[in-house]
Amino acid sequence: MEFNKEQKIIGIRVLTDNVIWLWKKNKSVVVIDPALSQPVIKYLKANNLKLEAILQTHHHSDHIGGTKELIKEWPNIKVIASAKEKDRIPFQNLSVNDGDKFKILDEEIQVIELIGHTRSHIAFYINNEASVLFVGDTLFSAGCGRIFEGTYKQMYNSLKKIKSLPKNTLIYCAHEYTKSNLMWALNLEPENQSIKNKLIEVEKKIALKELTIPFLLEEEMKINLFLRADNLEGFSYLRANKDSWV
Ligand SMILES: [Fe+2]
Repeated sequence: MEFNKEQKIIGIRVLTDNVIWLWKKNKSVVVIDPALSQPVIKYLKANNLKLEAILQTHHHSDHIGGTKELIKEWPNIKVIASAKEKDRIPFQNLSVNDGDKFKILDEEIQVIELIGHTRSHIAFYINNEASVLFVGDTLFSAGCGRIFEGTYKQMYNSLKKIKSLPKNTLIYCAHEYTKSNLMWALNLEPENQSIKNKLIEVEKKIALKELTIPFLLEEEMKINLFLRADNLEGFSYLRANKDSWV
C-alpha cells in the first residue's frame, strides 16, 4: 500500500490497480469509491480520523466493495450515489442526480453525470480556489473508461463535459492505468513528443512507487487521444482500437 499526498487528498492503492481516494479536512474524511474497507479503516484509525461520507461514482464491486463494512464502523455517515442506482448501490442514503449540489466538509460538491462506462456513472466536482474532479472510471490519464453500458455517443459527450471544465481542474480517477495507456497512445502516435515526455515522467514516478494520479485537465488535453478526438467517429475508432489492443 502506498500513499501520495496532494492537496489533502490521499490515495490508497488496493487490488491490482485501484486507487481509493481519501479527502481530508481537519480530522474528517470523505472516501471516494472504497473498493475495500480494511485499508481505509486502518488508515483512519492510525491517524485518528473520522469518516464523514462515501462518494460512489458507479456500482462496480471494485468501487463499492468496502462500503458495507465502513458503514458498520461509522453508522452515521452519508453515502452519496446516483438516484438511478438504488438497486445496484443499495447503501446510499443521499441519492443524487445530474447537476445536484450538496455540501460535505463545508465544500459545495456538484454532481456531473458521465454516462458511458455504466448507464448512470457520476462524477463529483468541487470548484473553489482549486477545481477537483473525482471522475471514477470515465477518464484515466491518457485513456478513458471502457463502454460497458452506454453508447459511444454517450461516452463521447461525457468527455465533452469534462473538457468544458476549467483547464486547471485536477482529476482523480479510480485506476492507475497511465503507463499502459501511454504505451497504447504512442503506438498510434509514435512521434508525439508530449506523450513521450509524459511516459518518461510516469516511469520515474512508478520507479519511486508514486502514483501518477491526479492529473491536470490542461496537460491531459495534450496527451489523451480520447480527449483530443474532435468528432464521434474519431472517438469511436480510438475506443474500438484500444479495446482490441494487447
Ligand atoms: Fe468500473
